[in-house]
Formats: sequence, C-alpha cells, structure tokens
Amino acid sequence: MKPFDKILKDNKAWAAQMVASDPDYFKRLAEIQNPEVLWIGCSDSRVPANTITGTEPGEIFVHRNIANMVVHTDLNLLSVLEYAVNVLKVKHIIVCGHYGCGGVKAAMNRHSIGIINKWIRNIKDVYRIHRDELESITDEESRTNKLVELNVQEQVMNLAKTSIVQTAWKHDHRPYLHGWVYGLQDGIIKQVSDIAPGSHFDELYEFDNL
Ligand code: CO
Repeated sequence: MKPFDKILKDNKAWAAQMVASDPDYFKRLAEIQNPEVLWIGCSDSRVPANTITGTEPGEIFVHRNIANMVVHTDLNLLSVLEYAVNVLKVKHIIVCGHYGCGGVKAAMNRHSIGIINKWIRNIKDVYRIHRDELESITDEESRTNKLVELNVQEQVMNLAKTSIVQTAWKHDHRPYLHGWVYGLQDGIIKQVSDIAPGSHFDELYEFDNL
C-alpha cells in the first residue's frame, strides 16, 4: 500500500475508534472551538503539538513554520495571532522550538538553500545579537542548542513587540507568553522564558497609545 493510501485508511480506523469509545466525540468537537493556548512551533515532523503535550483536538490552536519564527511581516503568523488573541481569547501563547532544529543549523552555516535563505536570515539576526555568547561555546552541538534556546527567547520577545499582544495585555491582562524547547532525544520540554501580561521588556518597543 502506498503511504498516501495508508494515511487515508488509518484515518478511517482512527475515526471509528474514537466513535467507539465516545459516540459524541465528533459532535461535541464540531460544535465549539475553545482552546486556551496558541502554539507556535517548528514544522519538523517530529514535533507535533498535540502528541508531545498529550492534548486532544480542540485544546491547542496551532501555527507552525520553519524554526518556530515570529516574523512581524508574516501575514500568516499575524492572522493566526490576531484570531487567537482577539477571537478565541487564548490565555497563553507558547513558542516551542526543539534541539537539533534543521532551520537553526542552516542559519549557522553559509550554504545558500534558495528562497529559504530569506526565512533563515531572521535566525542569523538572532545569532548576530548573541554572537559573543555563542562563539564562546566550542562544542558545535552545544552551540546549536544554545542558539535554539536564544531563538525561542527572541521569538517570544517578538510576540511581546506586537500591538496585538500589547493591546490584549492592557485591556484584558492576557496572554501569558512562554518559550519552550523540546528535546528530540528524551521527549522532555524545557522552559526557557516567561513573560507575564503587562511586563516591561524594552520601552523602545512599548506603544504608549494603545
Ligand atoms: Co525545527
């Protein structure tokens, strides 16, 4: 059987199994979407949001891209963010990176890989900001993993810089922002940053008229 056919067959088996254990499962889910969490993760196939957190459909609103970036001109990310914050009214936003991230590795070398260069350049900018700290780490894998952590922290900051988040902070005292890094080796998530609603992080980016 082709992999494509197998996916469809497995889908039918999964749906039947869910109904067998809970006849109203899909009826209930179809009626309402009320997640409390927005997840911004890496597209990497080994880091599926629901699976690694043991959550069910309906619990997490998900956006994924290469290296879990929050790029302030990315219309896709901004649309997801605005919908999650202003319509779903999520209480938490998690940026979840992972050790051994291919996007982060690509940012640390000089090979051109086509249009992805433009995306990866955002990670190179994170490297440049933390160059001294990173280049003091001699082991290559440790240095990559440090950049994974710093990149997540930077993307959490990028969320805090948006007027979408700052407006919700001011008027609704949410969402909390969290930076996590998932370990492919052990399946464990490490917390690397937390920003509470209304936190002052850098006045240069804090709007005074929201
Ligand atoms: Co990745």
